[in-house]
Formats: sequence, structure tokens, C-alpha cells
Amino acid sequence: MVRLSMGCGGAMYTESLVLTAAHCVSSTGNNTSITATYGVVDLQSTSAIKRTSNYVYRNPGYSTSAGGDWALIRLSQPISGAALLPIATTTAYDNGTFTVAGWGAATEGGAQQRYLLKAQVPFVPDSTCRQSYPSMKTAVEICAGYPEGGVDTCQGDSGGPMFRRDNAGQWIQVGIVSYGRGCARPNYPGVYAEVSALATAIQAAARDLGGNPDPDPDPGPVFENTNNVTIPDAGAAVSSSVTVSGMAGNAPSNLQVGVDIKHTYRGDLVIDLIAPDGTAYRLKNSSGSDSADNVITTYTVNASTEVANGTWKLQVRDVYSADTGYIDSWKLVF
Ligand code: ARG
Repeated sequence: MVRLSMGCGGAMYTESLVLTAAHCVSSTGNNTSITATYGVVDLQSTSAIKRTSNYVYRNPGYSTSAGGDWALIRLSQPISGAALLPIATTTAYDNGTFTVAGWGAATEGGAQQRYLLKAQVPFVPDSTCRQSYPSMKTAVEICAGYPEGGVDTCQGDSGGPMFRRDNAGQWIQVGIVSYGRGCARPNYPGVYAEVSALATAIQAAARDLGGNPDPDPDPGPVFENTNNVTIPDAGAAVSSSVTVSGMAGNAPSNLQVGVDIKHTYRGDLVIDLIAPDGTAYRLKNSSGSDSADNVITTYTVNASTEVANGTWKLQVRDVYSADTGYIDSWKLVF
């Protein structure tokens, strides 16, 4: 959690990128005017860590009918070791009870706070929220609050995170404080940018701004197959196996699949990871327009419903004629 000098909140997405609200920033481009204060509850604490911005990316869709109240602020120097808040990439956590936090007003029309406050607010379904805010954008907004009011975010909390625990017990960001009528009024819940609906765009922007969080900061055992397998041109699928043993329980939700395929037109290729029970996880689709060579990358797969031990396969099919190649090697990192 950070306080931003224009009077908003934000969450550390990477050590250099703060996720906040589009309405907290003016435009995309170089920007050295924002100070982020990190690591303290008391904004006047002498142990606060402060960083200046050097670039702002404001969701270009925010000012269109698409909406999406999010922006990324890049810091001129990373906050090394910062506690990062992963973003929700599925709607699985768009329900339940959320935590909200910020240094914004403690009551409608009240003063900004010196000490960070937090509160808990329940999810409000789109259909209910629409009755209060007929023009809310249900595709990219999520509401939270009690029918009787009394608990809410407020002015100055904007840009800060709304978060909860995921199924593994880890904190995950599901919302960004966006707007509301007054604060904590009955039947006027807070409206938040719906992070799961915006995650793909946030990740793409972060990539351009220097990178996304490490999907696997704590890599475990590696299982690899380095035997080459020829991929027939516009032919049948081929596969390469890796046998996993000695692992307890299920595979992780961030199973890393390292792929090294040499090919003269990678758009020809459809790639799947096949779990021991036969479940296929699509890693890559074909694309007639992607004429680049080779697929040398790491995919992250949520394999948490799969037993780890057994024979996993990388299955590759070339669906267009002309170019060819081979699986050079691939590996699973647990
Ligand atoms: N737009 C406000 C800000 O800039 C946040 C308002 C949130 N309001 C609410 N009732 N939840 O700080």
C-alpha cells in the first residue's frame, strides 16, 4: 500500500510499478511530479520510504465508453523488497468480503488521515449496484458495501486496493477504489475498478513499463526433456514427455512450463500441456500473422487440480504448411 502525493492510494504491483486509479493521474507520459510514500501507517513517520515517479500510464480506455479506472505509475527507483499485491486474473474472487484501506477521509466531507485506516465491505452484485448507479459499467466495475451503509472508502482513498484472500490463503487485489455517491450512505455502495476484467491490459502495460511480477519467486524441483522431437509440417500432433516423481500432492497454481521450440514460423504452432490425467492446458494458439521464429518462453499454468506425479506431455501441432521445426527441450518447474 502506498500514499500518492496527489491525494490517492495505490498498491505495489512490482518493485517499480504502483497500480492506482486513472482518475488520480492526468495523462500518459513522462511525469516526475508524483511522490509515493511506502512502508508506514503514519505518513509523518521518519521511517517512510519515498520515491518519485518518472512515468505514468493511464488506461486509454478510461475516457471512452469502455471505462476501466486504472493507471500504472513507474517509480524512478525501485522499492527493493517491497511487499507486492498480486492482481486477480479470474473472476473467482469477485465475491465474498473484501478489505479496503487508505488515508482518505474517515467520514463524508472529512479530512485526510495521517494514519492508514482499513475496513471490511461485502460484495454487492451488479444487478443491485445498478439500482444505485444506473450507468455503472458492470463489465469493468465491482461494488462493495452494506445496504445500511456505515462502512466505505471515501475521498482520498481512490486508487487504493480492495483485496481479499485467495484459495491458497494469499492476499489478492480484486478492486481499485474508484467512486461513490458521498461516502457510506445507505444503498450507495462504493464502486471499484474490477481488476480481474482489466488484468490482461494491466499486464500488457506493465510489460512495456519494465515487467510484471515474477510468477514463481520460489522455484522448486525441475523436470526436463532435452530430446529433440521433429514437428511434421501441417501434420499430426507430436509430444515430448516428462515424468514427475517424488512430489507430494498436487501441482502448484503457478506451474512454470519452460518451452524451447525451434521453428521458422511460430504462428503455425498450437501448443498444449497435457497433465498425467489427460487434461489439456492450452499454452499457445496458432496465428497466421505471427511470422517470427521459435517459441522460447515460459508459461505459467494453474495446475492446482492436477496430481503432480505422473507423465506430463508437451503436445505441439503445426497447423499451416510450409515451415517446420522441432521441440528442442522443455521443462516443468514446480
Ligand atoms: N473518487 C474518490 C477519490 O478520488 C473515491 C470515492 C470512493 N467513494 C466511495 N463512496 N466509496 O478519492
